[in-house]
Amino acid sequence: MSQQISFSITPEQEASKLQFIRRQFFSSGPPAISRRDVDLSGKTAIVTGANGGIGLECSRQLLDLRLTKLILAVRDGAKGEIARKALTTAKPLEVGQVIEIWKLDHSSYDSVVAFARRAGELNPRLDITILNAGVNRDSFVRNSTTGHEEDLQTNYLSTVLLTLLLLRVFKNRKSVTDVPKASPGRIVIVSSDMAAWAKFNERNKEPLLKAFDDEAKWDKYDRYGTTKLLGQLFVTELAKRISPSLAVVNCTNPGLCYGSTLSSELGRFTHVFVRLVGRPAAAGALTLVHAATKDESSHGQYVEDGEIRPMAPFVYSKEAEEVTQRLWKETMEELAFAGVQEIVDSLSQT
Ligand SMILES: NC(=O)c1ccc[n+]([C@@H]2O[C@H](COP(=O)([O-])OP(=O)(O)OC[C@H]3O[C@@H](n4cnc5c(N)ncnc54)[C@H](OP(=O)(O)O)[C@@H]3O)[C@@H](O)[C@H]2O)c1
Repeated sequence: MSQQISFSITPEQEASKLQFIRRQFFSSGPPAISRRDVDLSGKTAIVTGANGGIGLECSRQLLDLRLTKLILAVRDGAKGEIARKALTTAKPLEVGQVIEIWKLDHSSYDSVVAFARRAGELNPRLDITILNAGVNRDSFVRNSTTGHEEDLQTNYLSTVLLTLLLLRVFKNRKSVTDVPKASPGRIVIVSSDMAAWAKFNERNKEPLLKAFDDEAKWDKYDRYGTTKLLGQLFVTELAKRISPSLAVVNCTNPGLCYGSTLSSELGRFTHVFVRLVGRPAAAGALTLVHAATKDESSHGQYVEDGEIRPMAPFVYSKEAEEVTQRLWKETMEELAFAGVQEIVDSLSQT
């Protein structure tokens, strides 16, 4: 069901460091989106990891486009309150606009499941979800409940679980009689340039997901990018199975941004590099808004600076076909407790 797109640039060119530098220094970035282009009044959106950095800026931009209900999904309620204050102090909400703060912790499957259940009770219905929460650890951290390494847990496994559970929410809302012509839902998964640079040394390991939990093989320079690459492989496969008329699911790359805490664990050199080479978080956030408002042609694709561009070269390789099938199967098994296979089966028939 995902469309064959012809890109204006090859995946290899897109992945080159030269192209990255060009994007960071010489591109004008994503074009501005005005209220005349996009009017989100009447709509409800969730932004995860919304208490700072790119997520906070994205939230601000959605409100500027007249979004009616914004749900800040955060793991720390106090940080959520500070974010709400920052959003409303900078610019008072317009009549009818509301901001809610919902707890979501990607380190806990229970939290993800409870969050999705609550999203299913939304009235008016959910329209847009931006899955922005992410980590880039400087040391190996094992999740105490799942046993998985924490970058994999946060950036891939829990993101995928939430995606699948929210797809069920979109499916259920389609059958609600008072919204017979509901426009497709939107799910944006925030990716990264680093996906294209990942070595992904685990790719031939069986089982695949377990290989990421081996502390001895953990590679601090590779793990984050690999988790983002897994997200791209997942989105590509998911888009073959669900129709964009139900929900448009895509990935987006904000580019290297300063003004966030993502690289805070990574030391002074990284901090200075990000400040020199990065763009403001607001510029990166605009890419997320583009991805959330692009048409169905972006289903299963990668949106960058407002355009559909190639994902990591590996995604288009012969090898990826087999690896993606293994990843998909293992991911379904890992998340079987939440009935994800049944969800995908029921969505495939939609
Ligand atoms: N900044 C960049 O240069 C860059 C480039 C490419 C892609 N990205 C991606 O953009 C997204 C936003 O990153 P950012 O740069 O804005 O970093 P950030 O300021 O560190 O924001 C990350 C957000 O994720 C939340 N988060 C982390 N672990 C979580 C968990 N277990 N459960 C729920 N929320 C969790 C954080 O909450 P806490 O505040 O509670 O930790 C924070 O709100 C990430 O997906 C990142 O990979 C960033």
